[in-house]
Amino acid sequence: MPISSSSFAQIAALTRRETAMLYEPGKEYLVEARLLPLARAAGCADVDAYVSLVLRDPAHQQDAIDALTINETSWFRDNAPYQAFTDTMLPALLAARAHTRHLRIWSAACSSGQEAYSLAMLLDQHLPSGWTAQITATDISTAMLERVRTGRYGMVEMNRGLPATLLVKHFTRVGSEWEIAENLRNMVEVRHLNLAAPFPVLPSFDIVFLRNVLIYFDLDSKRDILSRMHQVTAPDGYLLLGSTETTLDMETHWERESAGRVQLHRPSGHAPAGASTYRVAAAPRPQQTVLTGA
Ligand SMILES: C[S@@+](CC[C@H](N)C(=O)[O-])C[C@H]1O[C@@H](n2cnc3c(N)ncnc32)[C@H](O)[C@@H]1O
Repeated sequence: MPISSSSFAQIAALTRRETAMLYEPGKEYLVEARLLPLARAAGCADVDAYVSLVLRDPAHQQDAIDALTINETSWFRDNAPYQAFTDTMLPALLAARAHTRHLRIWSAACSSGQEAYSLAMLLDQHLPSGWTAQITATDISTAMLERVRTGRYGMVEMNRGLPATLLVKHFTRVGSEWEIAENLRNMVEVRHLNLAAPFPVLPSFDIVFLRNVLIYFDLDSKRDILSRMHQVTAPDGYLLLGSTETTLDMETHWERESAGRVQLHRPSGHAPAGASTYRVAAAPRPQQTVLTGA
């Protein structure tokens, strides 16, 4: 039986309250398709019965939220942000952080980890010796965070944007999957974090990747998240949004600065970091690694 309009409204309200994600009317088919396997696994007759179970029993909430998050991602997604990382942000930060020789990066809403590990691969290539870096990877989906922790990817995922040279350099085949190297996994700290709730204690980040997640929120939530991001981004740090996301329609205390094809967001009231004494090579060009099952 298709999901009823009242079950849809209730689960949409719960998702909005817990994650800020909007499920507008018209998305019933999507909610139903995502919740049906969970309904079956829980022994419910249909999705409506499962929705009432979730509303009655908070133990089922995380599974439902995991199922309703959109986890689309890929290696070096859109390429331009990663090009800006090596061409602009990294040189400026290497100059500005010469006293600490440490960089802190946040992949907020990291999905299955391709964003965090793409950055780790670039750092492995471009960080001068004697420097360290930590990438904090956070998401609301515990299922996705488990995937980041294991660092294993199937062939379809590997074929999405990962240059062959980086596959050979950083991955080992384990059965039908590919596992990321330990040195890159050690660079990535995995934490559960809900962007829609007050942040826990966080360090000051030099770069924040907050990409392809604000699109799911309403204007007030976006504004609130961007203002809290301001508090955890270093005064000379950078915030990157997705290619269709912008701060233009919001009063948010971020200044925009072009770097190639991307807009970097910088906490307002602070001048960009000084001229670089470091040079780093270009980010890998987008390229498909066509894997076969052989
Ligand atoms: C489309 S993916 C984007 C992944 C990656 N940033 C990229 O650009 O490829 C969106 C991610 O946001 C996460 N998400 C949704 N609502 C969230 C929230 N309130 N707090 C933290 N993460 C959230 C989802 O679980 C999902 O993994």
